Amino acid sequence: MNAFLSTLWANVTALPATLRSGMHPGVRGDGDSLTLRMRRNFCFHLHPVQVAARTLEPKTTLGLGVITLALFGVLAASGVLLMIYYVPTPGGAHAATQDLEYAVTFGAFLRALHRWAGHAMVLTAFLHLLRVAFTGAYSRRELNWTIGLGLFLLTLGLAFTGYLLPWDQLSFWAVSVSTNLLDYVPGVGGLLKRLLLGGREVGQAALIRFYTLHVALLPALMGGLVALHLWRIRKDGGLARAPGEDPDGAAAVPAWPHLLLREAILVMVVLTLLCFLAAFVAAPLGGAPDIHNPSNPEKTPWYFLWVQEMVGYSAPVGGFAFPGVLLMGLALLPFLEREPEGAGRWFGPPGKRAVLVVSTALALFFFVFFEWAFMDPAVVSWFAARPPLVRDLLNPATGMLGLAALVFAGSGVRVRSTRTAFLAAIAVLLVAVVGFTFVGWCRGPMWTFFWPWEEWSLVR
Ligand code: HEM
Repeated sequence: MNAFLSTLWANVTALPATLRSGMHPGVRGDGDSLTLRMRRNFCFHLHPVQVAARTLEPKTTLGLGVITLALFGVLAASGVLLMIYYVPTPGGAHAATQDLEYAVTFGAFLRALHRWAGHAMVLTAFLHLLRVAFTGAYSRRELNWTIGLGLFLLTLGLAFTGYLLPWDQLSFWAVSVSTNLLDYVPGVGGLLKRLLLGGREVGQAALIRFYTLHVALLPALMGGLVALHLWRIRKDGGLARAPGEDPDGAAAVPAWPHLLLREAILVMVVLTLLCFLAAFVAAPLGGAPDIHNPSNPEKTPWYFLWVQEMVGYSAPVGGFAFPGVLLMGLALLPFLEREPEGAGRWFGPPGKRAVLVVSTALALFFFVFFEWAFMDPAVVSWFAARPPLVRDLLNPATGMLGLAALVFAGSGVRVRSTRTAFLAAIAVLLVAVVGFTFVGWCRGPMWTFFWPWEEWSLVR
């Protein structure tokens, strides 16, 4: 009995240490090397034991992958809580969202947190894609680049399916106009639209499909792909670096504490900023949708505005050719661009960076020129009177696509670098996407252009 009690007492007094080693197997005793601790701990094991010191510099990744991951975590957690109150029926969705906004304790905060994290994730996933492209970090990482592209499309899918759920005037008409864009995709567009909406228009069938995609199917796919993405980084030997830059060499440091601590701090900063934003800026909620009275202007969510703006000039180019070329180009990038030199460094080979500056400047010049020309009422009425083929060939969207092709061929031939040629073309398309998004955002009633400081009512 005594032996039993003394053993039990010994175990009780040893409880803090036992808990520590049992629940946190990476830390067992004083004699452990950092390497041993890392090998035994799951969290540490996500990273290589040693990482190149250069990958810790903020300018290497800008922390964008980790920020995107943190936002996904916030979205998953806040989304599950929102599900407790949400009712996915046309009769119940708007009322439930109103309840969340005005009646449920912390409901408005939760909605805002989810909404702003969603917008932020679209932005940071896009910026992360650009950082990987412009540092040539897709090089010899074909599978992970492809997984990443899938993650970006899933991010857009999640943001878009969530957009409908408040079921207010804005979301109803935004989803209607966005799904109408699918009509311009030849062959499968109409079928895709019917599959997504469960009919020809946004209604009960569409709401339940969007809801199922938003809360179950897409998050599950996203979770699985994120796990694969992180595993691939580990299997690819850490972040991209130039050949000869050895992660186990002199410039290597242990991932714990150097990398993990930085990541933890970054996640905390993201959470703090997001909480402040959600506390002070409410998520918008309009009135219940009026299905007989479209909003004027009817706009897609901001991340599809560039497509809507280009469709205004030419449906086949804006709705299909331009996004198709962009997507195909990005999908084929690591397979057609295989220069090992300078992987992990910004903007390709140092001696050839001037090409990127010139391409971006050309893109800015031509974009402003095309848009300026198309704001002249004389040009607009001349354009409207042309046959469809002429309109498809002579418009800002085709112009920017043509410029990207010219810059690609011209810079490739001139500096004999596939990386420079691809990056130059991506720079031109980026200027176009951002530019068309801005112009689309400025559009007011009847799709007329207004500067941000002009009030629609003053000009109308
Ligand atoms: C949900 C979206 C995504 C998450 C959560 C995510 C997460 C991450 C993280 C944490 C890293 C390591 C740190 C960093 O590079 O910042 C990383 C690296 C990487 N990501 Fe992503 N990513 C996402 C989307 C994408 C996209 C859209 C692409 C490109 C199409 C992409 C391609 C890559 C590649 C190739 C690497 C390795 C980069 C290197 O070796 O330097 N990822 N990602």
